[in-house]
This record gives sequence, structure tokens and C-alpha cells, in this order.
Amino acid sequence: MLIEAVNLRKHYGRIKAVDGIDLEVREGEILGILGPNGAGKSTTISMISTLIKPDEGKIMFRGRNIVDDPRVIRNILGMVPQDVALYPDLSALENLRFFGRLYGLKGSELDKRIKEVLDILGLNGRAGDSIKKYSGGMKRRVNIGAALLHHPRILVMDEPTVGIDPQSRKHILETVKGLNARGMTIIYTSHYMEEVEALCDRIYIMDYGRIIASGTGEQLKRLIDKDDTVEIQVDKATDQFIRQLKGNVKVKHVDVRGNNIILISSGGSSILPDVFETAVGNDVKMLSVQVKTPTLEDVFLHLTGRGLRD
Ligand SMILES: Nc1ncnc2c1ncn2[C@@H]1O[C@H](COP(=O)(O)OP(=O)(O)O)[C@@H](O)[C@H]1O
Ligand SMILES: [Mg+2]
Repeated sequence: MLIEAVNLRKHYGRIKAVDGIDLEVREGEILGILGPNGAGKSTTISMISTLIKPDEGKIMFRGRNIVDDPRVIRNILGMVPQDVALYPDLSALENLRFFGRLYGLKGSELDKRIKEVLDILGLNGRAGDSIKKYSGGMKRRVNIGAALLHHPRILVMDEPTVGIDPQSRKHILETVKGLNARGMTIIYTSHYMEEVEALCDRIYIMDYGRIIASGTGEQLKRLIDKDDTVEIQVDKATDQFIRQLKGNVKVKHVDVRGNNIILISSGGSSILPDVFETAVGNDVKMLSVQVKTPTLEDVFLHLTGRGLRD
């Protein structure tokens, strides 16, 4: 175990930003923290990065509590904040030089690291342009670069792909995978479940300052895979048809949206023959059928009754 946080708590007045969570980070993994806005993700990783102190709890790293002793982790951890923290009038090169000096790098060593970081982020061609001419995605890449200059072993990234173009997003996700393949441990927060599912070895799902589920993507989806979702489209969703669907013992929930009907059934797709029979018996024509395998979005919905993006 690389990092172990126990009973972490951070309240702001009456707001329980982080409300007693346990969390572990394993060496070499990409750990995802998934949750909607306000869930407590940034507060959690800010405590792990020693930027803010918890009200309660401990964070153990190499046998030391970094809450009391932040220096033991600071030089091996890189933090990419949610908000871009760069000087707009300076070039990418100058920005990176500034951050490198903060880490105590200088001379040819600093130049070497900057070149390396520009390569990793695919920014070499435009390194001399001032940041204000960069797209949002390119600014994000420079921000990531700033966190990599001191060769951290742990990289903490706070929603690094929010609001950027698909190409930069793809590039950032590839970069994260590449860094991880070279042995870097990554802590990655996001409210995009597809991203977390595709990228992360293990995931904590947060909501209202608490961890409501954790595990691999597969393990989390197994929480609900008995409740498959079947979506059908019919020519006319008559009352009688809907009533009979609702009367089926395997059907747990029926959601009618015009002629689209969403069924949650305890038997998964085994409900389909019954649905066809009911349709025929009611002279209702089925236009399409889709069986949805659960996503992490469904897991969140199942656990909280709300969507991740609500
Ligand atoms: N410095 C702060 N002062 C007051 N409230 C805060 C502060 N930081 C975070 N919060 C509140 O704590 C909750 C969790 O915030 P945050 O950790 O930023 O969530 P997330 O990163 O998941 O969106 C939110 O309700 C937020 O408004
Ligand atoms: Mg946040």
C-alpha cells in the first residue's frame, strides 16, 4: 500500500465537504475518484496532496502521517489542479521554467526536463507562443507538464479533461496511460464515468462527502447487473399494454416516455419473450429493442437515485 487515508474529514461550516472517508492508493495503479460536482473529490485530493489539512483523520505514507509531516510526500507528488494556473502572457516554455525553478531545478537539468515534458505533452512546436494564444486543451497540457517537471512518482489530477476539445482529451488520456505504464501511480478525479471506467484500475464513487462504493469497474457494475435495463420503442404505448407490463412479476420498474418504454427487470433480457407476447396480445408493434448493460452511471443512479450529471 502506497498511501492509506483513514477517517478523513473536512467540514466548511455546515458543509461536510469530506465526511469521514477511508481510502487507499496502491503502488502503480490508476485510481479513479468519480462523483458529481460538489461530491468532495477536490477536497479529498487536496488533503492527500497536503495542500489542505483535514479536520480529522490520518494519511499514512511510508509509515509516516503526512498530515503532521507533509515534506515526506511533497517532493515525490505532482498535483494538476482543476483550474489552470499559468501566466497568460508568458510562453509555455517560460511558464515551465518558472515552475521548474519553484522545484529547485536549474541550468541544463531544467532545460532537459522542460524538453522532456514538452515531448510527452506534444507541445514542442508551439512552446514559444504565449499561453493566452493556446486553446483550453493546450493550456491543460502545459498545466500537466508543470506537475511533471520534478519527476514525481505519484501524479494527482483533478478533472483534467473538463471542457476541452476531443483531441486534447484523447491526448491527455493517452498521456496518463503512458505515464502509468512507466510506473507512475495516478490519482484521477472526474465526473465523466466513461473516462474513469476506461482508464482506472480501481474506482471510488463519492457523493456528499462520502464514499458510497468502491472496486474495479467490473466489480461496481456487478452491484447491479441483476437489474438490466431494457429499452423498447413501440408504435403506440397503450394504457393496457403498460398496465400488463407493470403486472409482470419480473418487471421492477416501468418508465414511459411517449412511445419509448424503459423497463428495469430482475431477470435481465430474459424478460424479452414476455414483452413480445404482451405486445402481440395488445396489437402493439415493437419498433426497436435495446438491452443496456449497466454502466457506472447506472451504478450511481442505483445507489443514489440521481444521475451523475444532475
Ligand atoms: N474552501 C471552501 N469553502 C467552503 N466550501 C467549500 C470549500 N471547498 C469546497 N467547499 C464545498 O465542499 C463541497 C465539496 O467540494 P469539492 O471538494 O470541491 O467537490 P468536487 O471536487 O467533487 O466538485 C462543495 O459543497 C463545496 O462547495
Ligand atoms: Mg472538484
